[in-house]
Amino acid sequence: MTNIADLVARQPKGFSLLQPFYQSDDVFRRDLERVFMRHWLCVGHESMAASKGDYFLANYAEESVIIIRGEDGALRAFANVCRHRGSHICLKSEGRASVLVCPYHAWSYNLDGTLRRARDMPEGFDASKYGLKPVNLAVIEGLVMISFAEKPLGLENAREAITGAYRPYGWASAKVAHRETYQLDSNWKLAVENYLECYHCAPAHPEYSRLHALEQPLPKIEALIARMEETEKRLGLNIPPYLSWWPNCEGQEMVRSFRYPLYDDVKSGTEDGSPAAPLMGDFTDYDGGLTSSHFGPASFLVGYADHGVIYRFIPKTPHVSEMEIIWLVRGDAQEGVDYDRDKLTWLWRVTTEADKKITEDNQKGVNSRYYEPGPYAPMEANLQAWIGWYLAELVADRR
Ligand code: FES
Ligand code: FE
Repeated sequence: MTNIADLVARQPKGFSLLQPFYQSDDVFRRDLERVFMRHWLCVGHESMAASKGDYFLANYAEESVIIIRGEDGALRAFANVCRHRGSHICLKSEGRASVLVCPYHAWSYNLDGTLRRARDMPEGFDASKYGLKPVNLAVIEGLVMISFAEKPLGLENAREAITGAYRPYGWASAKVAHRETYQLDSNWKLAVENYLECYHCAPAHPEYSRLHALEQPLPKIEALIARMEETEKRLGLNIPPYLSWWPNCEGQEMVRSFRYPLYDDVKSGTEDGSPAAPLMGDFTDYDGGLTSSHFGPASFLVGYADHGVIYRFIPKTPHVSEMEIIWLVRGDAQEGVDYDRDKLTWLWRVTTEADKKITEDNQKGVNSRYYEPGPYAPMEANLQAWIGWYLAELVADRR
C-alpha cells in the first residue's frame, strides 16, 4: 500500500516525480478519484452526435459514458451501465440508435435514459426507478464536457475563457473532420507532462518547430508576436489570452489560454505551412498565430485560423493510457473539395507519433531501479505549475 500523503511530502520541489507516481496502483486509484472523477473532461465536439439517436462513448479507466442526442435535440450523458445486472449497453464506440438495448437480457432504454421495457419482469416492477444514471454534461462553443462529480466544479470561468477564445473561430458550428486514438504504454501523467512543455520540441519535433514559435527566447520572437497582434487587430479579432489556471480557482474548473505566433509565411499547421481548410468563424485572413488552451487537468485545445485540434488524455491502467486527437474544420467544409484529410492531419499525426515514442521511452527509463527525479529546466515552468497543482489535489482535504 502506498502512503500517498507521505509520498507527496517526500517529493522534491523542482524535480520530476518520484517513481511510485508512475507505477503504483494506489496512486492510480487516487488519480482517478481526484483528477478524472472530480474535474471536467472534454470528450469531443457536438457534431459527433449531430442528429437524434447519434451517440459516442467516452471511456476513462473503468468508466464508460454514452453521450447521446435525444428526440428533443438535447445532448445528454449516461453511465454505460445497465440497471438490470450492470452490463455495458453500447459496445461500439459510436453509432445511431432509436432505443438503447442492452445486449445481455434486452432491457431497453429511451434516448432520454428512461427505462422503456424490461422483459418478463413481475407485476409491480417500477420501471421509473431504473433509468440510466446521468453524468453531468455541458456544451461550450460546441465542445462537449462531462463531469463524473456529484457536485461538479463551476464552469463560469471556463465558459467565459473558452467562449472568448474560440467564438471568433466559430467552433460552435464546426464539424469533426477526423479522430485518431493513440495507445501509450505509459502512465497518463507522462503523456500530459510531455504535452505541457516544449523543451522537447526542438529535438523531438522538427516538423512542429519549423512552423511554431513557442517558448523561444523572447528577443527571437518579439517581431512575430507584434505581427500576430497587428494582424488580429486588422482582422478585428478579439482573442484574449486568459490566465486563470491552477492557482486561485477553488470551486471552478481550471482553464488557461494563450496565444503564440507562427513563423513568417506560415499560415497553418500543415507540412509546408500552407492553408489546410477554409478559414473558420470571423477569420477573413490568416493571423500569423494560434490559440492554445488547457481545460481542466487533461483536455487541450489548439485553434488555427482554418482548423482546430482537441487533445484528450485518457487513463486506462497505471501503465497504459490513450491520447485522442480530434480535428475540427468549418461546419460546411467538404472533404476532398475544401480540404484534404491527410494534409489536414499530417502535422499532429507525425508530432503525436513522436510524442508516443518519447513518452513510452520515458516510462521505460522511469521503471528502472536507477531512476531518480531530475531537475526541471526553465522551459518546463508550465509543466512544473501543473505538477504543483496535481500534488496539491492528491492530498487536498475533500471530505
Ligand atoms: Fe442488461 Fe441484463 S444486464 S438486460
Ligand atoms: Fe511533443
